[in-house]
Amino acid sequence: MGDMLSVIVDGLWRQGNKSLAVRLVAENGEALPDWQPGAHIDVHLPCGIVRQYSLTGPCGDEGYLICVGRETASRGGSRYIHETLRPGQRLLISSPRNVFPLHQAERVLLLAAGIGITPLYAMALQLEASGTPFTLHYYVKSRESAAFIRELSRLFHNGECAVHASCEGESPRTHLAQDLPAPHAGLHVYTCGPAEFMAKVREVATANGWAETHVHSEAFQPVAPPAGGETHNVFTVTLASTGERWSVPADKTIAQVLLENGVAVPLSCEMGICGACLTPVIDGVVDHRDTVQSEAEKGAVDQQVALCCSRSHSGELVIGL
Ligand code: FES
Repeated sequence: MGDMLSVIVDGLWRQGNKSLAVRLVAENGEALPDWQPGAHIDVHLPCGIVRQYSLTGPCGDEGYLICVGRETASRGGSRYIHETLRPGQRLLISSPRNVFPLHQAERVLLLAAGIGITPLYAMALQLEASGTPFTLHYYVKSRESAAFIRELSRLFHNGECAVHASCEGESPRTHLAQDLPAPHAGLHVYTCGPAEFMAKVREVATANGWAETHVHSEAFQPVAPPAGGETHNVFTVTLASTGERWSVPADKTIAQVLLENGVAVPLSCEMGICGACLTPVIDGVVDHRDTVQSEAEKGAVDQQVALCCSRSHSGELVIGL
């Protein structure tokens, strides 16, 4: 794991009736490392849980802003932040990591659902500042549940923001088709939200002829491993630097095998969603199980493997460690 930053909870406040914004500042009073929209941090909660949260708000600030939705089926992180976290509390966080960056574009379409607004709100602010035209469609259950609604209701000079509330009959299911225009070489789409929402965005985009390279998404939920395929239950992982090789059994991840053998692996989410453990592949055919990388990246000549969850289609996988 990379260097940890010690931060203080500077403030907590409501964002709609479902979310909490949390401002973090460096404990030593210095500015926190720079970041760009799409970046996220690992937050190490005192209850022992590590969660990834997108940075949001303007990226020039000295502190960091995150926004956490209240999840009814919380695995613990959301509940801790909503019920226990207090201003003045000290936390450890990672430096920002960005696997969802903005690309150069003539125009940008942002499609957010629920708490997926957090990275896209930061993108909207950046696009406004850089003069890149944008449109943000923000899908929520009700307007009362929307985060950053006041900030997004202001006049933008380079973009516009439309809030669609399902309870008013504007669900993504019914509205996406008209919000996603025909593809255009200079237009890029960014989407963030629940897995079902992003699957719907991709379905509509594919039906409209969009190239995968122009539709960017971020998932903070693990995907189930694909059924079937030529996956070797047991394969060998080899370190390119030393030639050391170990067997990876079906009940262990590559990362677990490496750690057991004293190899440092930068782990964070351990669910294939954060990118911390991505490692170059030197030889072999990866059975990609992460949601960090795009299909294009997973099919590229130079590939990376998520050591926390991916496996191998070939009997041996040589990695750049
Ligand atoms: S540790 Fe997060 S992708 Fe592997």
